[in-house]
Amino acid sequence: MVVRWKVRVLLPVLLWFLFQGIPLLAIRLTPCQLAGQLYILDVPKSELPLWLCIAQFESRFNTHVVGQRNDDGSRDYGLFQISDRYWCAPPNQTEYHAFNECNVNCTRLLGEDITMAVQCAKRIQRQQGWTAWSVYPEFCNGTLEAIDECFQPGNTTTECSDEVIGC
Ligand SMILES: *[C@@H]1O[C@H](CO)[C@@H](O)[C@H](O)[C@H]1NC(C)=O
Ligand SMILES: *[C@@H]1O[C@H](CO)[C@@H](O)[C@H](O)[C@H]1NC(C)=O
Ligand SMILES: *[C@@H]1O[C@H](CO)[C@@H](O)[C@H](O)[C@H]1NC(C)=O
Ligand SMILES: *[C@@H]1O[C@H](CO)[C@@H](O)[C@H](O)[C@H]1NC(C)=O
Repeated sequence: MVVRWKVRVLLPVLLWFLFQGIPLLAIRLTPCQLAGQLYILDVPKSELPLWLCIAQFESRFNTHVVGQRNDDGSRDYGLFQISDRYWCAPPNQTEYHAFNECNVNCTRLLGEDITMAVQCAKRIQRQQGWTAWSVYPEFCNGTLEAIDECFQPGNTTTECSDEVIGC
């Protein structure tokens, strides 16, 4: 009986998640995969090393990371650790939430489709510059790893694979 109950409850829940388009799949991208996806999403090639550096130090390229609570109770979401204080709407009502500048639910900044995370990160960068990311001065304001190799023929960046969506 218990098992049947679980199935009856869980299946609709699963379907609900699917139809909400809430990403269930969490992935860790390789640097070149991220470079390829950013490029497809219209990030200029010259900016790619910097975006990769920020993603590396913010999330280690994990798309699904939700950060520990900050001092004010807020949390940071996804590849670029975007704050739910100003930029996205947290799943629950919170005291600290002030704006939803990117007009997006924070959960959409997680998971394998990185489109919203990238659009929101671009907006943040336009408004605040690279120093919006606390890792920038320490780790990303200097010599960065070149990304040229990612775009060599024979590399897998922009080619479709199971992990690369949107192509
Ligand atoms: C949101 O609220 C639900 C139910 O109160 C809780 O289980 C969940 O952990 C909360 N989510 C976050 C991100 O705090
Ligand atoms: C966020 O999620 C809520 C509840 O699922 C929905 O009503 C709202 O339209 C969503 N907002 C955006 C900007 O997607
Ligand atoms: C970045 O590096 C330059 C040159 O070393 C320095 O002048 C600048 O203050 C640094 N910016 C930040 C935000 O640390
Ligand atoms: C593909 O990119 C990776 C990471 O930058 C690099 O280590 C590798 O040598 C590249 N492979 C080719 C064939 O260029």
